[in-house]
Amino acid sequence: MSPTMGNLSKTRQFIEKELAYSAHNYHPLPVVLERGEGVYLWDVEGKRYYDFLSGYSAVNQGHCHPKIVKALVDQAQKLTLTSRAFHSDLLGEYAEYITRYFGYGKVLPMNSGVEAVETALKLARRWGYDKKGIPANQAKIVTVEGNFHGRTLNVVSFSTDPSSRDGFGPFMPGYEVIPYNNLDALETTLADPNVAGFLVEPIQGEAGVYVPEDGYLAAAYNLCKRSNVLFIGDEIQTGLARTGKMLACDHEEVRPDILILGKALSGGTLPISAVLADDDIMLCIKPGEHGSTYGGNPLACRVAIAALEVIKDEKLAERAAELGEYFREQLQQFHHPNIKQIRGKGLLNAIVIHHENPEAAWELCLVLKVNGLLAKPTHGDKIRFAPPLVITREQLDECIHIIQQSLTVLE
Ligand SMILES: Cc1ncc(COP(=O)(O)O)c(C=O)c1O
Repeated sequence: MSPTMGNLSKTRQFIEKELAYSAHNYHPLPVVLERGEGVYLWDVEGKRYYDFLSGYSAVNQGHCHPKIVKALVDQAQKLTLTSRAFHSDLLGEYAEYITRYFGYGKVLPMNSGVEAVETALKLARRWGYDKKGIPANQAKIVTVEGNFHGRTLNVVSFSTDPSSRDGFGPFMPGYEVIPYNNLDALETTLADPNVAGFLVEPIQGEAGVYVPEDGYLAAAYNLCKRSNVLFIGDEIQTGLARTGKMLACDHEEVRPDILILGKALSGGTLPISAVLADDDIMLCIKPGEHGSTYGGNPLACRVAIAALEVIKDEKLAERAAELGEYFREQLQQFHHPNIKQIRGKGLLNAIVIHHENPEAAWELCLVLKVNGLLAKPTHGDKIRFAPPLVITREQLDECIHIIQQSLTVLE
């Protein structure tokens, strides 16, 4: 640290350095973390916290899961990257593992979530031209209001969130945005024969854990089938056991034509994402038409297999289902006047704060932090509660107690 930072607390010094040299594209809570294990995080002052964000659901398996870390370290010492110019001894093994795991014909491996979304959109367009017979450059993708699929220019082109979109135009054409959870709007839009795909989050995570009505996903899927439109499920945040099933679409027995995964596919160790589809869709993309230097690298292949094994071995979906229900029940019992709504599925939950102070949710998060629990507001008045799925009932009880105690700040 520089001598001029001498009088600042350790935490403040780290924050000042970050602010000085790192772009200001986030507004983090004032805590500086240096270690994680399971459901816990430790800051640079040695204080321990429960993690109730889980890296936006990337750490479903818990921080630094020993099995995932071992896979990472072992493979890192052997071979990390070949590029796709050559074959590796792990891509086939991983591809077989993940396609069998989710029941698809093929996987296209990428890195970040938004890259996988871009991949799915390209794939849907290409399928639209090659298989559905949409005239050249006329393909449309239907998306919904409140969506969050990442930050690339293409993806923010169909965002309805001003802070994601404003000031970044011109935007990519070819998208139709309809209200979420509205089947009539979907039916009307799908009548256009140039629609290739319907892109949807089964639960809108970033928007504040909006859960659509029961039956929405199944009915939307059926409407897509009727119109020969691909149902593209973005399960980057909702997938991999988070909502109490392996995929959130499983709650309605919907099998997306194109499935997008990311985040917990590495248990929080590396950016690993994947697009899954059957051959009639996936093989529309030919050699040389799409790819990524790091996509499908041996390190990612080994880590993703370990991360997926942990989810099944430790029955994380079952845990999320049971503990999620318990958690919401306990919060309901607070009957707290400033909690307007408690919603979620499995361990993807949010509370909506009702308060005259527009900063109330932020202030509650600051108090939660002081009391040893890290959560972050989204869109001002919503706080997501999404701990690692390895949390125990006893730990969850302690967290419920922390939340109850902290809520007094609103009174
Ligand atoms: C549903 C969904 N899609 C896509 C993304 C983008 O993923 P990434 O930040 O890894 O690009 C996110 C990230 O929060 C997400 O929640």
